[in-house]
Amino acid sequence: MLTAILATMALSCGICRADNGMWLPSLISERIGDMQAKGFHLTAEDIYSVNQASLTDAVVLFGGGCTGEIVSRDGLLLTNHHCGYSWIQKHSSVEHDYLKDGFWAMDRGEELTNPGLYVRILDRMDDVTSTVLSGYVPSMTEEERDSIAKVNAQAVIQSAVSGGKGLKASIEPLYYGNQYFLFVYKEYTDIRLVGAPPSSIGKFGGDTDNWMWPRHTGDFSIFRIYAGKDNEPAAPSDENVPYHPRRFLKISTQGVREGDFTMVYGFPGTTQEYIHSEAVRYIGEVSDPLKIDLRTRRLQVQKKYMSASQDIRIRYSSKNASVANAWKKWQGESKGLARNKVVESKKDFESRFEAWAKGTPYEGVTARLADLYGKLEKYNRAIDLYRESAATVEIAKAASSFFASDNADLSAFYKDYCLDIDKESFVAVMEFFDQNMDRTMLGDWYLGQLKKRGGIAPWADYLFKKSAFRSEATYRKATKKDPALEFASEMAEWYRSSLLPEASKIMKEINLLYRQYVRGQMEFEPGKVFFPDANLTLRVAYGNVSGYSPSDAIQYDPVSTLKGIIEKDNPDIFDYNIPQVLRDIYAKGGHDDQPVCFLATNHTTGGNSGSPVLNADGELIGLNFDRVWEGTMSDISFDPSFCRNITLDIRYLLFLVKEVGGAQWLIDEMLPAE
Ligand code: ARG
Ligand code: GLU
Repeated sequence: MLTAILATMALSCGICRADNGMWLPSLISERIGDMQAKGFHLTAEDIYSVNQASLTDAVVLFGGGCTGEIVSRDGLLLTNHHCGYSWIQKHSSVEHDYLKDGFWAMDRGEELTNPGLYVRILDRMDDVTSTVLSGYVPSMTEEERDSIAKVNAQAVIQSAVSGGKGLKASIEPLYYGNQYFLFVYKEYTDIRLVGAPPSSIGKFGGDTDNWMWPRHTGDFSIFRIYAGKDNEPAAPSDENVPYHPRRFLKISTQGVREGDFTMVYGFPGTTQEYIHSEAVRYIGEVSDPLKIDLRTRRLQVQKKYMSASQDIRIRYSSKNASVANAWKKWQGESKGLARNKVVESKKDFESRFEAWAKGTPYEGVTARLADLYGKLEKYNRAIDLYRESAATVEIAKAASSFFASDNADLSAFYKDYCLDIDKESFVAVMEFFDQNMDRTMLGDWYLGQLKKRGGIAPWADYLFKKSAFRSEATYRKATKKDPALEFASEMAEWYRSSLLPEASKIMKEINLLYRQYVRGQMEFEPGKVFFPDANLTLRVAYGNVSGYSPSDAIQYDPVSTLKGIIEKDNPDIFDYNIPQVLRDIYAKGGHDDQPVCFLATNHTTGGNSGSPVLNADGELIGLNFDRVWEGTMSDISFDPSFCRNITLDIRYLLFLVKEVGGAQWLIDEMLPAE
């Protein structure tokens, strides 16, 4: 039935305009009219085609959380520096620090293998709703529906992956299980590192500029996909040869101007566009502030030690970046939700919806959701508190991993560990946990320890003094009675047995209601264009190059240049200390207008990092790598006046490969003579 609703909607909405959305490539014919009206020159078949080569063949899921794109007939792959970061780090040592100095293979023989790294290329996608629901009749309960769907889905996946090398398949629910889509990928596992700029370029601006405009980060790294001699996926081997894609992206060096059409093709991770006002209120007013508070405490401790010691700065740079990344995003999200009064407008929508829903099967669904969210809140709050406090204690995590995988080697952990930071963070986050947890929900073990140790600070003194995990020299002597292990397991056990079961039970009910509610929203607003929430499946977003006004009296231009890097350059500020080679190149003159990054209105989210940004002719003009802070509420509610994605201009990438990397052979490969 829903397929029917979706189909009629699609028909009636062929001309509907939407400012936002993440569209399924196989259904892009429903949007192509709007895309063309906004300046796109290609057809739906050029984007995705069952029979012929299309842009889809050039886009990859990179390493399970980012996007990348193929830019040569020999499988050359571009993604972000922050996506390649951990792989670059693995090849780095004191003698050759590729993170610091950058890495440039000067021929194919110098490219470096990365066991464990994989990319997936979409082979096909299909609406399998009717197959997945075969055997289901409306008199069944939602649970019965789900178990039928599970069994059918397994069978579809089985047959999809048989008879091909490296085939991977998954069935993903869309609109909370109103529809099911099959995605079949080819997974390539011989992926070699080809090039990366120094971090002072690839991470330029660091966490100071992260999520911000004006931005000047050269956020890219270069890899190459290798395949067996038959061009099919093969395990890493010297025998492998560069992969020849069905289609690779042509690079355009024409540049962008305000208003130009842009399209982002990639793998956005998670959005929640159709949720209830209570869910939005929880995120913006409870969860985000709570998590921000806890992370502020950890960041303060890290900052204190990192600014006092260069050694600690290096050891904590990656941890610090990941703690700071979401911390900053949540601030933008929570502010944006409040600024745009998203809770109020959802509430208003809900009352109009309920007025319409009287006498339909949808009557009362929003009240039932509100009721369930009311029951869920105390569990969700406790879960957030636990995950951002006890679950972040490093010594406890080391202890559990040591025992989880049979006396694991923890030398990598100790290389980047600082006990003083960990201990101070323990006190900072556990005090917050203790002050903010509902006492009646706390476990006996926790309350007992708190009393026995005489408070959080003495508990930390005891734990960090007594645990064998306090140092690399002692951890191998740890016993199952170790206080760090005990802390980790008892807290995790409390979380698993007292919080999760109830929370998952309520969440399951909520998701079943959403299945109804989203269907209801579609019937209620037949003129509106719906897109399925992001779920790390391939999507098209489109928009145009555009600046914005973040606040009164400020207007941002959409393009940044090398001049801005030189303006920010400061050898005394870690985040802004560019390599001397870039200063020298600039000093030679003529590079003031070298474009670096640009803004556009594409609807993107985490996972879209590294996504190709294409022009009206489907040519590569840049790599998506971030959004602006004021617009991060777009995961819940998109506002065209604030929501911007940030793209690395492809011309800056080419400039760096040539001038800083001196890798002309890669330029020749990316820009072949016609
Ligand atoms: N904000 C971007 C993203 O969410 C970049 C993150 C990496 N950079 C950083 N400074 N932490 O992935
Ligand atoms: N940097 C993000 C990523 O890793 C993209 C930014 C966003 O959330 O839009 O995917």
